[in-house]
Amino acid sequence: MSRTVDEIKEKVNIVDVVGQVVQLKRTGINYKGLCPFHQEKTPSFVVSDQRQNFHCFGCGEGGDVIEFVKKYYNLDFTEAVEKLASQYNIPVEWGKGDHGEREELYKINREAAAYFYRQLRKGPNPGLTYAAGRGLTKETLHTFGIGYAPDEWTGLYDTLKAKGITEDKMMKLGLISQSGKRYYDKFRNRLIFPIQNTAGKIIGFGGRILGDGQPKYLNSQETPVFQKKNNLYGLYQSKAEAVKEDKIVLVEGYMDAVSLYQGGIHNVAASLGTALTENQVRLLKRYTKNAYLCYDSDEAGIRAALRGMDIFQAEGMDVRVLHVTEGKDPDDFIKQRGKEAFLDLMDAALPYADYKIKYLEGQHDLSTDRGRVAFLVDAAGVLARLGPVEADMYTKELSDRYGISRDAIRREMEGSRKERAPVPRRQDPEEQTVRTPMDLTEKLLIKVFLTQQEYLDREAEWKDAIQSDSGQLIAAAMQKARAGNAGAAGSTPDTPAPGQLDERAVLEQLDEQDQQVFLSIRDGMPAPADPQGAYRDCLIKAKKALLRKREQDLIDRLALADGTVNKEEVDRITAELIDVQMKLKS
Ligand code: CTP
Ligand code: MN
Repeated sequence: MSRTVDEIKEKVNIVDVVGQVVQLKRTGINYKGLCPFHQEKTPSFVVSDQRQNFHCFGCGEGGDVIEFVKKYYNLDFTEAVEKLASQYNIPVEWGKGDHGEREELYKINREAAAYFYRQLRKGPNPGLTYAAGRGLTKETLHTFGIGYAPDEWTGLYDTLKAKGITEDKMMKLGLISQSGKRYYDKFRNRLIFPIQNTAGKIIGFGGRILGDGQPKYLNSQETPVFQKKNNLYGLYQSKAEAVKEDKIVLVEGYMDAVSLYQGGIHNVAASLGTALTENQVRLLKRYTKNAYLCYDSDEAGIRAALRGMDIFQAEGMDVRVLHVTEGKDPDDFIKQRGKEAFLDLMDAALPYADYKIKYLEGQHDLSTDRGRVAFLVDAAGVLARLGPVEADMYTKELSDRYGISRDAIRREMEGSRKERAPVPRRQDPEEQTVRTPMDLTEKLLIKVFLTQQEYLDREAEWKDAIQSDSGQLIAAAMQKARAGNAGAAGSTPDTPAPGQLDERAVLEQLDEQDQQVFLSIRDGMPAPADPQGAYRDCLIKAKKALLRKREQDLIDRLALADGTVNKEEVDRITAELIDVQMKLKS
C-alpha cells in the first residue's frame, strides 16, 4: 500500500487531478480557482504545483492529492488511493504489513458469513422460512448477506476447522464458545445479520432467534475488529445513497434497516443495540450532514431521540426526528404503509429545536402561570444552543404563541448560556461547552494549596492535573491572590499576614458558582495530615487519569481507522498506544 501511495505522489500531479473538476487559472507559481468545498464567488482556492498540495483560504480545507480525492469524491483513504491508482495505471500493491492480524480476522469472519449464507440458501430450512415470513426477498438477503445458523452444535466450527482456522481465532471473534475441552458454535438456530464496516469488511454478527425466545438478538462480543460504538449496521450498503440524497435515516434495529432498504429507502443505517455515540455520528458525517432519527414512539424511543439529537447537534449536523406512529416500528410501518408514507413522515420530521420544544410543551402544564414559566426556562435552554438568527426566529414564535415577552425569553437564554459559559481563556462564541465539574483529585490539590501556598508557584508540575473549568479558574484566582499579596507589609485584622493567602481576593475573582465550590473545599474537606505526600499523590493520580484518557482515545481512533486510514497512521497510533500502556503499568 505504502509503495502505491509513494508512486501516486511521485507520478500524479495534483494540478491535473484538481483541474479535472475545478477550473484553475495560473497565478505566478500557483493555480487558483473557485473552492469546491464551500460556496464562493471570488477564488480563494489555491493549488501548488511545487508543493503538490491544495489550500482554501476561505474555508481552510487543504491537503495533498489523496486528501483532495478523498474529500471531493467522498471516499475513504483506501478508496481514494485505489481510484487514483487505477486512473493513472499504478499497480495497487498491498504491502505485507497490511495483511496483519486484522486482515486475517476479517477473512475468517467472511468465511463464517459465507457458511451462514450457504446454510440459508441450500434448500428449504427454518431460516429461510423465517426470513420469508418476515417478508425478506432473495435480493435483500443477498444485498445484506443475511444467513442462517442451523440448529447444530458444531456446523460452523467444523467448517472453519477444516479450513485450518485455529480455535484461538474463532474464540477471539466470538464465533464459538468453549465448555471444558469442547467447542461449540455460538450462533445456533438464528437468522444471521453480518455486520460490515464502511469498507465492506465483516466485523461481527447479529443473530435473531427464529420466533420467540431469549435472547431475541445475540450479537458478537467486542473483538479487535468489532466495536459497537464505532460502527453502524447497513452503512456499507447505504453510504452511496446517503451521499446522493444528502441525508441518512437512522433506526434502532437490524430488521428496521433491512426492511426500510427493501421498501425503497436506501439511505438507512442502524445502531447496534447501544445508544447512539459520538463516533457513530462522526462516521455519518463523512457522507452527509443531514440525519433523520427514526425511533419507536414509546417513551424509550423519545428518550433515545432527545439524547441522540444532542450528539448530532454538538457535531454540527442537521438532525430531525420522526416517530413511526401507532406503536409500530419502522419495519412494520414500511411494510404496511409503503415508501411514500414513510417519505411523508420524513418530510414532516421535526428539526432539533421544534422537537425539543414540542417535547417540553408536553412536560409542562401550560394553562398555569407557573407551568408556563417553567416551560419558558426549559425552552430558553434549547434556544441558547442555536445560532443567533435561528434563536431569534424561535423567540418570536414562542413569544407570540404563549404571550411571553421576547425580552423575558432572551434574558432566560442569557442565563442559560452563562450557566454553561466556557472559561474565559478559551472563549469562543460559537462554542458553548458545559462547565466540567472538578474531580476529587483537583479538589484535594486546591485544599493543599490553601495551606501550602508555595506549591501554587510550581505550576508546571500541577498544570495538567487540573482539567476542569472551575478548577482552572480557582487555581488561577489563588495564584493571583498570592502574587498580589506577596509583597504586602504588616497586617491589619482585615488583610492577611504576608505569605498567607488572601481568601477574599480569591473569592472576588470568582463567580458565584465557583465561590461555592471554593468554599466547600475550604470548609468541607479535611486538611491533609501530610500535605507534601498528598500533593505528590494528586499529581500521580492525575497523570494516570490523563494517560488512561489518552489510551481510550487511541483505542477509539484505531477502531475508527478500520480500513480507511493508511498503515503509517495506524502504526503511529499503535506505537503511541503501546507507549501509553507501558507508562500506565510503571
Ligand atoms: N437488540 C439486542 N439484543 C436484544 C434485543 C435487541 O442487541 N436482546 C438490539 C438489536 O440490534 C436490535 C435492536 O436492539 O436490532 C432493536 O431491538 P428490538 O426493537 O427489540 O427489535 P426489532 O428490531 O424490532 O427486531 P424484530 O423486528 O426482529 O423483533
Ligand atoms: Mn421489529
